[in-house]
Amino acid sequence: MNIELNEEHLMIQKAARDFARTELLPGVIERDTKMEFPHEQIKKMGELGFLGLMVDPKYGGSGMDTISYVLAMEEISKIDNSASVCMSVCNSLVNWGLEKYGTEDQKQKYLVPLAKGEKLGAFALSEPEAGSDATSQQTTAVDMGDYYLLNGTKNWITNGGNASTYLVIAQTDVEKGHRGINVLIVEKGMEGFTVGAKEDKLGIRSSDTHSLMFQDVKVPKENRIGEDGFGFKFAMMTLSGGRIGIASQALGIASGAYELALAYSKERKAFGKTINQHQIIQFKLADMATEIEAARLLIYKSAWHKDQGMNYDVSSSMAKLYASKVAMETTVEAVQVHGGYGYVKEYHVERLMRDAKITQIYEGTSEVQKIVISRAVTKD
Ligand code: CAA
Repeated sequence: MNIELNEEHLMIQKAARDFARTELLPGVIERDTKMEFPHEQIKKMGELGFLGLMVDPKYGGSGMDTISYVLAMEEISKIDNSASVCMSVCNSLVNWGLEKYGTEDQKQKYLVPLAKGEKLGAFALSEPEAGSDATSQQTTAVDMGDYYLLNGTKNWITNGGNASTYLVIAQTDVEKGHRGINVLIVEKGMEGFTVGAKEDKLGIRSSDTHSLMFQDVKVPKENRIGEDGFGFKFAMMTLSGGRIGIASQALGIASGAYELALAYSKERKAFGKTINQHQIIQFKLADMATEIEAARLLIYKSAWHKDQGMNYDVSSSMAKLYASKVAMETTVEAVQVHGGYGYVKEYHVERLMRDAKITQIYEGTSEVQKIVISRAVTKD
């Protein structure tokens, strides 16, 4: 594996870091408190090419590799995880599948404006009764000849309110089980499609999370991606890439909290010296630095697998499982290093601690990652 960062990697890393500090940091606490979506900031991210980072320039994207995506996600996630989850969903869960499996017409109509950041996308798989058990889809897409009749409810959909293009997973043929599931491109404004209220969440509070309701929505046949029955495999493959994005988010949360704790430890004095002179704090920082580096290497390896055209189902699950655990543990310790200051909003670490938890839940819980990994390691 060669994961030496090249000039382009260093450039995107710096661009993302600068953007996060100058554009996302101001107002991040207030947006989190008020659950305000970062509209202006996301618009700028689109203009800078962050939302179509890996899409071929001929479809309006930036044409970068997965390592670049990981680097940008880490930097954005150090500061604003409502922005970074929007970025991750657009890149990994919507654009990737449209580019890989969409028809030329679908790409021109839907991918191009998404990759340019003119529109936002959403991926609708989860349901009230189908989270980890993704094959149990209750949303139906009945084949009516020229169109599918879509009925059902999707839950916890990132970008649910602000998206224009939704990839919706639905059951067409119950008898065929997961082989009877399709993925349909649904546009906002289609008759019978409504968006529920925004969720009031523990973390990533300004991200745009909604339920979606479909009542007799007529979705044209040409909006199906891939062959009839391809929807479940499409979703699983999409999520493998998505897990690299969320692992990178978790990495950014951990490294962001670590950097804050390190800086604070150099300033805060206790018992006659700065707290970074106390071994108990030094050991905490040593553990954090080591675990973050291990998470980073797992993520780079999975991104490298993807860029090499190798299978990355297991490596992305390992990366997400480990990085999200590191995010949770590191943020708890970062709050501890800050003492009382860590418990108030102004110091940012309490927000990162709240944000960390979602990385163990969405795009497959830690338990789902263990299913994927254990099946691979116990296979004969
Ligand atoms: N690539 C291609 N095909 C795959 C695959 C992959 N990575 N994983 C599974 N499949 C195929 C299998 O080969 C099988 O097909 P065949 O029967 O034709 O061979 C089919 O899919 C079913 O596979 P399994 O038997 O493994 O399915 P399962 O029911 O045992 O479930 C699971 C496996 C890993 C638990 C899966 O259901 C899963 O990943 N669940 C979690 C779903 C998830 O991540 N949801 C997140 C929602 S999106 C989100 O969170 C976005 C956001 O907010 C930011």
